[in-house]
Amino acid sequence: MNNNKFNFDEIVNRRNTHSVKWDKCESDDIIPMWIADMDFKAAPCIIDALKQRLEHGVFGYANVPEEFYDSIINWFERRHNWKIDRNWIEYTTGVVPAIDAVLRAVTSPGENVVVLTPIYNCFFTCIESNNCNVVEVPLTFNNDYSYSIDYDALDKALNDDNTHTLLFCNPHNPAGRVWTKDEMLNVNDLCIKHGVTVISDEIHCEMVMPGHDYTPFATISQEAQNNCITCGSPSKSFNIAGLQAAFIVSNNPDTKAKINKALIDNQVCAINPFGLEAFMAAYNHGENWILEFNEYICGNFQLMRDMMNKELPAFHITPIEGSYLAWIDVTPTGMTSAQVTQKILDDGKVLVNDGAMYGKAGDGFIRINLATQRSVVEEATHRIIKAMK
Ligand SMILES: Cc1ncc(COP(=O)(O)O)c(C=O)c1O
Repeated sequence: MNNNKFNFDEIVNRRNTHSVKWDKCESDDIIPMWIADMDFKAAPCIIDALKQRLEHGVFGYANVPEEFYDSIINWFERRHNWKIDRNWIEYTTGVVPAIDAVLRAVTSPGENVVVLTPIYNCFFTCIESNNCNVVEVPLTFNNDYSYSIDYDALDKALNDDNTHTLLFCNPHNPAGRVWTKDEMLNVNDLCIKHGVTVISDEIHCEMVMPGHDYTPFATISQEAQNNCITCGSPSKSFNIAGLQAAFIVSNNPDTKAKINKALIDNQVCAINPFGLEAFMAAYNHGENWILEFNEYICGNFQLMRDMMNKELPAFHITPIEGSYLAWIDVTPTGMTSAQVTQKILDDGKVLVNDGAMYGKAGDGFIRINLATQRSVVEEATHRIIKAMK
């Protein structure tokens, strides 16, 4: 018997809705599995909150109420055992604007910012837009196609007078890792040793596969909490990214004041009224939805992995611990990831991401967005197998 409350199998036609993901398809026979947004309707609690706001009919500038802060505080305490003080929180329009402003607040032009690659492409643009240098520390790619942190390489990169910041991603896009407390303690020890501040992007934190646990970086130790700035949002996990609302947490009043100034300087210090309602509805009422979502994605991943393992042994699939993004080493095909991406598009009519956009360590990989209906995942996987065989 199926006890699920939400119907993730329901096909939602997103063509002609001004969707970045779907509009990129040059013909109607292409399945888009690239940019990280979902093809599912948002949770009913979010749709209801938005309907109510819409019915009001007036959409002027919004004030951010205390309930916004409460929704973050209650969610993270209840779900992740993180006690956030109201005064530690700033709000902004998105996690990328958050990272950009935090970098503006804590770095000076010309400094190095370390990232663990492959990594979400906007990390590079945020660092560069703040006139800082990207220092890539490749993750170790293990025999089972999973990733781990190369602490020696990280130690070396942090041991530089020009390096004061690590831009971290927990869970990690696109490597699929949900970092453990011990791994983050090791990272934090190295950062403390070298006087390096951690900016932790935790936007993927609710999307964690059964059997894995997300730990906020700020909760691993008091020392870590004092040394890190967290950027987050329910946007990615609840498919409300287009509504643009996010938060930043820092327990250091001086740092927080600098971040506040940077948000104002960058003109990203307001939230639209729909973003606000969706954000609060997700954190106040969205728990059951996200738990079912995670199970559904796990099923999507298993389906794709099993089909590919059987028919396409030249694709080496990274285990997925968090997010809904499959990460695949395609180097055994003898083709570049750009060529594979193109072939999958030309011959299979499936649009995926070339891993090269996630740094040098992503070259040779492709990324596939699995946040779509099971039947679509099955059809797309058939097509990819056919195109690559
Ligand atoms: C790690 C990470 N951070 C931030 C974002 C985007 O955040 P936003 O849309 O809130 O700017 C993404 C989107 O995929 C992401 O993967």
